[in-house]
Amino acid sequence: MNFPFPKDFLFGAACSACQIESACNEGGKGEDVGEHYFKLYPEKYCGGDPNNSADFYWHYREDIKKLKEMGLKILRFTISWSRIYPNGPKEVCQAGIDYYSDLIDAIKEAGMVAFFDLFHCDLPYWVIEKGGIIDPEFSDWFCAYAKTCFEAFGDRVDYWATVNEPSINCMGAYAYGINAPFMKDMEKGLLATHNMILTHYRVVRMYKSMGFHGKISAVLHVQPTYSLSLDPKDIAAADRDMEFYSGVWLDAMFLGRYPEVLLKYPWYKDKLPKNYEKELRDNFIPSDFIGFNYYNPAFARYVDNGELDYEIFANQELSQDGYGFVQYPQGLFDLLMYLKNKYPGVELMITENGVGKKKWGNLEEEREDDYRVTYLREHLREISRAYQAGAPVTAYCHWSFMDTNELYAGGYNYMFGLMQVNFETKERIPRKSFHYYKKVIENGMVD
Ligand code: NOJ
Repeated sequence: MNFPFPKDFLFGAACSACQIESACNEGGKGEDVGEHYFKLYPEKYCGGDPNNSADFYWHYREDIKKLKEMGLKILRFTISWSRIYPNGPKEVCQAGIDYYSDLIDAIKEAGMVAFFDLFHCDLPYWVIEKGGIIDPEFSDWFCAYAKTCFEAFGDRVDYWATVNEPSINCMGAYAYGINAPFMKDMEKGLLATHNMILTHYRVVRMYKSMGFHGKISAVLHVQPTYSLSLDPKDIAAADRDMEFYSGVWLDAMFLGRYPEVLLKYPWYKDKLPKNYEKELRDNFIPSDFIGFNYYNPAFARYVDNGELDYEIFANQELSQDGYGFVQYPQGLFDLLMYLKNKYPGVELMITENGVGKKKWGNLEEEREDDYRVTYLREHLREISRAYQAGAPVTAYCHWSFMDTNELYAGGYNYMFGLMQVNFETKERIPRKSFHYYKKVIENGMVD
């Protein structure tokens, strides 16, 4: 058996600014939402002080060298809004522009494709103070920031994403209270989603009008939801979960509307902003690719609860990675085929996929990450299978290129990195998986 990949396949890795940069008070940076709430409620962030992460801000040159050594073809990272607009929507911080400009140069000089997100869990705190994503002016603030980034970096960045995992940053933050600003109001969650989608359209349209060579989209968290039984009601419930969770974004980004099945629920439709349909129709502009993060599947069962009429389970028969993700490599194949069939012809990029293991405190042992080697192999095989079955998949970004601050979801307690970070000394050392992935990239195929 062998598992080929397209000749120009972009093997890569990803991480985000607020999870590895540290340097929260350097270069004129303003406070972001995680820094602000960490000071108030460190326990909500599992004690993970964002100012004491991997110090990427100071070490990026040597880190990029190591990533080049691994042979990465694409690197995905974030520009931190609060480094570019530290105090409000008007005043640009030149030191922030200079830092990202140098970082992008380093990535390009290393021969890698540069993929940048504009927003990855790190809203400036002033955005929250002024009303957050649900504020009518949010779109203006975001567009001004995006325009500054396009002008400063657009000549060198190949792929842009307006937002990473908007489901978490809109529904998670406004409807379920999971992350900042910790609101629990479904109507606000749907308003945040709608505002973010309209903002996304505006930014995509602006980018296109500026005449750059790159592509633009958003990065979505997509879960394949399987039915727990053969009962058609359970099967329909699984489909509904996919529509509710990621279909809202996918349909808005590629079809200019919300999934029909959800609009049949009056409580859902009635909570949407009044002119949602017309606003989507009038402002729609298709995105260039589907960027999606795949970690785990979900399993659904019908229940008559008067809402979306289902509940979700983890499948107890599948093993967990310690971080809480159920491992199911085949889910990646299923997703690629699902996306290929539902949005034909759209380029597919796996923008995140990885495994988080709880640290046990022996750094040497923690470098021998055979579990990550297996994880990589199995997931890459599924991508190859999907490619051979016709899925237009062009990239795979492993999460993460180095150990992270998992923020509200785990602080520094979990290892996601191909490179280990010693958070005491800030030393970074390649793990076994780093060497394995290097070989895969060299060979252009997985074993
Ligand atoms: C997805 C998020 O984009 C990223 O910030 C996080 O660290 C990973 N999931 C792993 O939990």
